[in-house]
Amino acid sequence: MLGAGLVSSRPVPDWLITGCSQLLTLRGPVPRRGKHLTDLGIIPDGAMLVHDDRVTAIGPRKKIEKLPAAKRVEKLDLGGRVVLPGFVDSHTHLIFPESRAAEYEMRIAGATYEEIAHKGGGIRNSVKKLRRAPASDLKQRALRNLRDFGVHGTTTIEAKSGYGLDWDSEQKILMLQAELHQEQPIDIHSTFLGAHVVPDEYKKRPEAYVDLVAKKWIPSVALAGLAEFCDVFCDRGAFTVPQSRKILKAGRAAGLVPRIHAEQLINTGAARLAVEVEAASADHLEKLSDGDIRALAASNVLCTMLPGCCFHLGLAHYGPARQLIDAGAIIGLATDFNPGTSPTLNMSVILSLACNQLRMSPAEAIAATTINPAYSLRVHDRIGSLEVGKYADIAAFDVADYREIPYYFGVNLCSLTMKRGVIIHSRNL
Ligand code: NIG
Ligand code: FE
Repeated sequence: MLGAGLVSSRPVPDWLITGCSQLLTLRGPVPRRGKHLTDLGIIPDGAMLVHDDRVTAIGPRKKIEKLPAAKRVEKLDLGGRVVLPGFVDSHTHLIFPESRAAEYEMRIAGATYEEIAHKGGGIRNSVKKLRRAPASDLKQRALRNLRDFGVHGTTTIEAKSGYGLDWDSEQKILMLQAELHQEQPIDIHSTFLGAHVVPDEYKKRPEAYVDLVAKKWIPSVALAGLAEFCDVFCDRGAFTVPQSRKILKAGRAAGLVPRIHAEQLINTGAARLAVEVEAASADHLEKLSDGDIRALAASNVLCTMLPGCCFHLGLAHYGPARQLIDAGAIIGLATDFNPGTSPTLNMSVILSLACNQLRMSPAEAIAATTINPAYSLRVHDRIGSLEVGKYADIAAFDVADYREIPYYFGVNLCSLTMKRGVIIHSRNL
């Protein structure tokens, strides 16, 4: 993505941050898997020095306070809160025209997600409305949502196009994401999802649509620098494995790193495709086979579980996160913020669902929302952990023990969010 996410002419104050009952640094091997997954690098009564946008010292308070640089900076006492790297949400559909609450009500009454999609609802419903929506309206909605990501402790997101599905509308989304990345503090990493579903006008000619995406749109998106990643919804009712392969390989050839929506509705072979094309991430994964789990565990693909999606769709089966972790896979968690299957941007809720439904431990869930998704976005050298030289992207929670973040489910306890050394949210401090 182009340039820096924060544009400000004001000088950024330097900080001495103290009062961290537990400072979760997440220092250690990247990506995190196996026994390292639960090592959060916790410093009790920790402190940090921040200069400009970076962490310049981090350690026990008694040591950091004595450093000469600690004398010349603003003091920020967090009063015994838990501090961690800002959440990295590596799967969102940020730009959409409006909620699909009417479909939510239909699903409560018994219709399934796929039945609604068959009747022209679902993704196609959002596409119809997005094509007509003025860019300024989409931007205002996205800005409100971005502010809310920050309020919940998220400092970096990935965002997909995919509600346009014609060239002008897909471009409209990606250009908005580029603008938003420049104009507000949350970093946005863009993914081109022209292959979300086959749009109505290509219903009878799906192969022609696949060719259009692979041969025309992907090279144009890459040339214009409008995305870093390329994604496909590879599932029943969307794209087949051969079609998805064509698209992801075209993306790879143009310099867009593959990501994939895989094994959500049925088992298609999408997870194996993720391994084959060395995707940065394979997401959903509810319908994995044992062989898929072994293949993913032996790869460097981030296995992103999206429990908000299972919750919102009212599904009983949340996916084999435990087996993936135990087999040694790189596990991740994301909100999948979107109007159809997961209208939440609250990562603490995702942590609660991961612990209760995926049987992940709170420590595993925190590694899966910080350092591992940073790895899948290829920015782990800058974010995802709190270490000297990395960005001061920080979230502080109104608890004394990190396990209380998922424990108090549905409550936003984030009382401070800092993005590159700038406070972008504070409450009750
Ligand atoms: O990640 N599965 C495909 N895409 C989204 C849902 C999009 C929608 O229903 O609008 C997802 O769940
Ligand atoms: Fe998605």
